[in-house]
Amino acid sequence: MRIGVLVSGGGTNLQAILDGVTSGDLAVTVACVVSNRKEAYALKRAEKSGVEAYYIGKGNYVDRLSRDRALLGLLKSKQVDYIVLAGYLDILSPEIVTEFENRILNIHPSLIPKYCGKGYFGLKVHEAVIENGDSKTGVTVHYVDSGIDTGAIIRQVQIAVKEGDTPELLSKRVLEVEHEVLVSVLKEIADRFGGGEHAKCID
Ligand code: GRF
Repeated sequence: MRIGVLVSGGGTNLQAILDGVTSGDLAVTVACVVSNRKEAYALKRAEKSGVEAYYIGKGNYVDRLSRDRALLGLLKSKQVDYIVLAGYLDILSPEIVTEFENRILNIHPSLIPKYCGKGYFGLKVHEAVIENGDSKTGVTVHYVDSGIDTGAIIRQVQIAVKEGDTPELLSKRVLEVEHEVLVSVLKEIADRFGGGEHAKCID
């Protein structure tokens, strides 16, 4: 199974995938990594692992349409079976969502439907959890549809909020769980993908 990983930042989730591939635990080929931010450290992580890394962002395309076309063209040319949004802070065009229906995964650091959608990125999610006095938060992996964080949920894992937690502390703990959950879901999809059938849905 060939995957394209889309990133915007530090790329620790990407690293978890790359480590899974290197250890032989995760039977996928990372066909390409694409960042919409030129300075994303995730691009360096890809290069260090010998994975093709691309920057497709506002800086190198005149408008949204040409950017989206370039992204879709690249993913298709790399014969990607699944797209993984690993901290990708942009919205995919409807063309990409349609072309890869039920084959795009996103990881979000909350228990969706809580603290998701526009505005909930980075530390904002964890700040909201703490401000509201929630006793638990978590990680969600879901399919991507035309909305923001609205696609069918594949897996959710709960994480307890501890006394004295700050958004930073919580974010660190949640991120560690993200790594495990994302690799585990991908492993399951890759196992089902097996001989080439697209895994349409897993519970
Ligand atoms: C993760 O918390 C992810 O859920 C969110 O952005 C963060 C990205 O972290 N969408 P990294 O770039 O994988 O380290």
